Amino acid sequence: MQEIIWATRPDLIIETGVAHGGSVVFSASLLELMGGDRQVVGIDVEIRPHNRAALEQHPLAHRIRLIEGSSTAPSVLAQVQSLAANKSRVLVLLDSNHTCEHVRQELRLYSPLVKKGSYLVVFDTDIEHLPADLIGNRPWGKGNNPMTAVKEFLGKTDRFVVDEEMEAKLLITVAPCGYLKCVKD
Ligand SMILES: C[S@@+](CC[C@H](N)C(=O)[O-])C[C@H]1O[C@@H](n2cnc3c(N)ncnc32)[C@H](O)[C@@H]1O
Repeated sequence: MQEIIWATRPDLIIETGVAHGGSVVFSASLLELMGGDRQVVGIDVEIRPHNRAALEQHPLAHRIRLIEGSSTAPSVLAQVQSLAANKSRVLVLLDSNHTCEHVRQELRLYSPLVKKGSYLVVFDTDIEHLPADLIGNRPWGKGNNPMTAVKEFLGKTDRFVVDEEMEAKLLITVAPCGYLKCVKD
């Protein structure tokens, strides 16, 4: 992700799935190094008060915006679209609910914000290859996960391709087939 962020120099990073805020702070730190008014917007269906407080007190808080609500809710999408309206380079990272249906909707709603040269990264596509006992009692699993949604999405669009160079560098990743490069506006 560091290489992608540094190479594509996004004006706005959109992340679905905040949890404790580790990945939004990571994104914010790289945006801070690049300067300007770059920001990361983190969306989560539940931002717990202690996590929100920690992010609001963080030294990089000025780079972070939080939106509470489902990433697929129309009101949430409207807020994100308005933040992205005047941004030319938007990077989207999907790491919220890992069911195929949810990621399918996220891909439909968020992919139009990504333009040629930028990326849409779908995390936890590796669920497809995990043994069932590692997944536990979750609504996702083999055949119903972010990879299922990515494969379906790639079958319907010519705007994105899997960045095979990224895959070749990583060797081991939680996002196999998940680094999607936008090749067409
Ligand atoms: C894997 S965690 C995110 C981890 C975070 N990206 C990181 O690496 O630090 C997934 C998060 O997605 C959130 N989530 C689940 N369903 C969601 C939805 N419909 N919309 C937005 N967030 C959702 C959960 O509340 C949880 O905090």
